[in-house]
Amino acid sequence: MRSAIMLFAAAARALCPRVTQPARRSIIRAAKSKVNKPRYATGMAKAVYRGEGLGAPSYDSAPIALSGLPDTTKPYAVLGIETSCDDTAAAVVRSDGTILGESVASQHEVHAKYGGIVPGLAKEAHELAIDAVVDEALQQAHLTMSDVGAVAATVGPGLEICLRVGARKAAHLASKYQKPFLHCHHLEAHCLVARLQTELEFPYLALLVSGGHCQLLWVQGVGDCSVLGGTLDDALGEAYDKAARMLQLSSATGGGPALERAALRGNATAVDLPVPMKKRKDCDFSYAGLKNALRGRVAEKRIERGLSDEDTLPDQDVYDLAASFQSVAIEHVEDRLRVAFKRVVGEAGASPTLALVGGVAANAELRRRVASVASQAGWRLVVPPPRLCTDNGVMVAWAAVEKASLGFSDEIDEEVEVIPRWPFREHSAPEPVKIAVKLASKAERATAAA
Ligand code: KG4
Ligand code: ZN
Repeated sequence: MRSAIMLFAAAARALCPRVTQPARRSIIRAAKSKVNKPRYATGMAKAVYRGEGLGAPSYDSAPIALSGLPDTTKPYAVLGIETSCDDTAAAVVRSDGTILGESVASQHEVHAKYGGIVPGLAKEAHELAIDAVVDEALQQAHLTMSDVGAVAATVGPGLEICLRVGARKAAHLASKYQKPFLHCHHLEAHCLVARLQTELEFPYLALLVSGGHCQLLWVQGVGDCSVLGGTLDDALGEAYDKAARMLQLSSATGGGPALERAALRGNATAVDLPVPMKKRKDCDFSYAGLKNALRGRVAEKRIERGLSDEDTLPDQDVYDLAASFQSVAIEHVEDRLRVAFKRVVGEAGASPTLALVGGVAANAELRRRVASVASQAGWRLVVPPPRLCTDNGVMVAWAAVEKASLGFSDEIDEEVEVIPRWPFREHSAPEPVKIAVKLASKAERATAAA
């Protein structure tokens, strides 16, 4: 086992001599986890299901630079393609972090009348949009495929038939133009894009809130994320989408944004809703109870107003229900963050940092309240601009830059195997530590100043 790890380390040094010591450690950690860990989680009860299983397998399983690396002696451009769910997205990003071109085709209208994403329709919509989206990103960048240094695609987690559309398009381009090809992990790409435009060192805590995921992650390096807590049932974005549907809000722009707009006009204390898991002091989430409570309040309002199931509620009722739902949903996030801050403070260093990422991080009220909780606890907050929170090609291209800078790339296979369930491993930290965040950071400041 030791020789396998040393081989990885030697290869990392040889292929990428300018890789920093911590980055090299990350490669070695990846090698170790390949040797030590089973590839798939087994026996995880659904009730504590926190993502898609175990590990960060691309980096664990892929040997280094299988399809070569871009020339890192000068800035190079990466084409990133994302089709894991209901956005067809592509972007061209330069290795110094400059976004050269980006394009997204959203499918909200395709799925609006079905009350959720229909995988077959999503796949068809991706197939229809993919060529134009990629061309648009390249055109904006004023580049052709020959100018691009590498091609990347999300290969998981996500909807299998959707992932395939983007992954195959990317693999085809990489093969045709003889470019290095990089697989990206969708959730990791959400986390890493926080480093694109802001100075953000590893390790950091990430709160990932999207349509399919709601996780607190400890991000220690590229290919090195672990889960502090996940959702026991619905993800935050999913809860927003379902609440928007219950309130019959127009979903032409997606349920979450529609609910956020309605909430702006409502009174957040008008409707009494239960804050989830108030008594549990861990990092897990649950939104099914809140969703069901909202359904109950909607029914009560109808009765109160003498309305049938077909009638629409008065606008002000909808606004108040939306604002009350949003407020409680975010209070649950605040509670979980306070626990997570304490849990990782011992590992977080002198300037503990939280990255708020994923589609729901585009929500202004969530951004405002998370900023406030972070600042009260002495944590710095990094949040990407809203368009880089929802699914996009930039995060894929950027994750590829990060991965290539460590010396990794993947095999080019036009039938590329996608990974619909692709887990992070559980964080191994002990239960909540006793030191308060503020005290710890003050003490560290005093030591630094001495
Ligand atoms: O990351 P993302 O684009 O796709 C997934 O990976 O799931 O997240 C999409 C989720 C959807 O549930 C959408 O309703 C939610 O993010 N979302 C929002 C907002 N913008 C997107 N939720 C609340 N407020 C928003 N402004
Ligand atoms: Zn996403």
